[in-house]
Amino acid sequence: MTTTDIGQLSDFEQGVPRQLKVDGRVLVAVRVAEEVFVLDDRCSHEEFSLSEGEVDLETAEIECARHGAMFRLSDGAPMTFPATRPVKHYDVLVREGRLEVETP
Ligand code: FES
Repeated sequence: MTTTDIGQLSDFEQGVPRQLKVDGRVLVAVRVAEEVFVLDDRCSHEEFSLSEGEVDLETAEIECARHGAMFRLSDGAPMTFPATRPVKHYDVLVREGRLEVETP
């Protein structure tokens, strides 16, 4: 397991997806309230970049801009069709005010 510093909470704007390159992976980070969620930046339907999608702050879900599938940010679960498979989710740790993403 590798942990990588991705900044602090104030570096992330509410509900604005940001692409991150971490440990050879392309990820998307989204802040909702006081938490930052990190998923693979790849829709499980047709491998479209989720960082181009919109975030629903009320449900804490991100929409794929290509065909509109919604994914739960807390675990990458697909909430609507056409996606049926989850997107990989990564844990984010908070250490002394810094955010660290864990990759296997
Ligand atoms: S590519 Fe994302 S919903 Fe189709």
